[in-house]
Amino acid sequence: MKKALRILLAIIVVVLVVAAGAAAFVSVRGIPTYEVPKVAIRNVVPTPALLANGEKIAMSMCADCHLDRKANSFSGRYISDLPPEFGKLYSANITQDPEHGIGKWTDAELITLFRTGIGRDGRFRIVMPQFVHMSDDDINSLVVFLRSNHEWVQPKAVASHAQEPSFLGKVLVNTVMKPTPMPAHAIVQPNPDDKVAFGHYLVTGRYLCYDCHSKDFQTNNILEPEKSEGFMAGGNKFITPNGETIFSRNLTADPETGIGDWSEEQFVKAVKFGQSPHGPLRLPMPKFSVLSDEEVKAMFAYLQTIPKLRNATAEDGAIAAK
Ligand code: HEC
Ligand code: HEC
Repeated sequence: MKKALRILLAIIVVVLVVAAGAAAFVSVRGIPTYEVPKVAIRNVVPTPALLANGEKIAMSMCADCHLDRKANSFSGRYISDLPPEFGKLYSANITQDPEHGIGKWTDAELITLFRTGIGRDGRFRIVMPQFVHMSDDDINSLVVFLRSNHEWVQPKAVASHAQEPSFLGKVLVNTVMKPTPMPAHAIVQPNPDDKVAFGHYLVTGRYLCYDCHSKDFQTNNILEPEKSEGFMAGGNKFITPNGETIFSRNLTADPETGIGDWSEEQFVKAVKFGQSPHGPLRLPMPKFSVLSDEEVKAMFAYLQTIPKLRNATAEDGAIAAK
């Protein structure tokens, strides 16, 4: 008996020492650095169509994180809408400033970052989405936008703030959050005439609605978004500018807790103007006002085809209490 107890104690001590070692390692290692993938990507040739598309995607996808509204510049900001348990995180200066922005990044370096999450210095960029399913055209259009004369990207000599991840944040970037590989093939976006396929592309490839609208960033599957836990059924946690804790909502077609009983018009109003049948939508739900109705309707069509999940969030009131 005594011997068994001693063995058990020894095991516990070993486990604790290993755990403490791992914790110290993660703590010291912080945000990891990886080898920068060697890619053969030629410079993007700008066209008016790429610029217009890039501006639209930047307004709907990049501004919420990178725009300093006071300075009207993509010089970066404190990301206040993530739960504090991840630490204090800041978006970077992505203006054309050569020292503090992306003035010295090549097109290939920018594209490598968008695809893999790895910066030109090898450091893994956190919070910044990895656009693994975005079409080559859309990716190129972002590069064209960043190099354009748009006011937001003109050089601004403001240093990017260093990241201050919490211990949990550090654990996550050393475990579940990993760089993604460069795509092996060209990625072409589906024809908008195929509404469901186009909607699927917009939700998982271009606007990444699934990233916020599935259960938790920690269980999202970047390579296969549909395998994210609670895919599109809401529940991911956010902080509003007023400091309220809110949750993303169920966008599957479950009639009681999702949007199965919504009309296409109601969906368009909610997505473009933040007016949901449940009332005004709070930040960080973006207002996708620059999207065409065609895009939003395609997303609606796609959402009707995915597995319905029953997941009540606060706005479902009585159902949530059941
Ligand atoms: C959810 C917030 C978020 C969104 C959305 C986002 N970014 Fe970022 N981005 C960040 C953060 C945070 C960093 C800094 C990460 C770090 O330092 O680890 C970053 C870094 C970058 C960098 C690297 C700059 C550097 O010096 O390290 C570029 C380039 C960039 N973002 C471009 C974009 C573009 C273009 C878009 C839109 C398609 C976009 N980002 C959307 C949060 C975001
Ligand atoms: C940055 C995270 C984020 C992104 C990206 C995002 N959403 Fe949301 N969304 C939210 C949050 C949070 C709410 C809940 C807002 C509230 O409670 O006021 C919400 C609410 C909604 C609602 C209202 C649902 C209801 O039942 O009232 C719709 C519709 C919606 N989002 C659609 C979309 C679509 C479509 C996309 C992609 C084009 C998208 N969202 C991208 C965070 C996000």
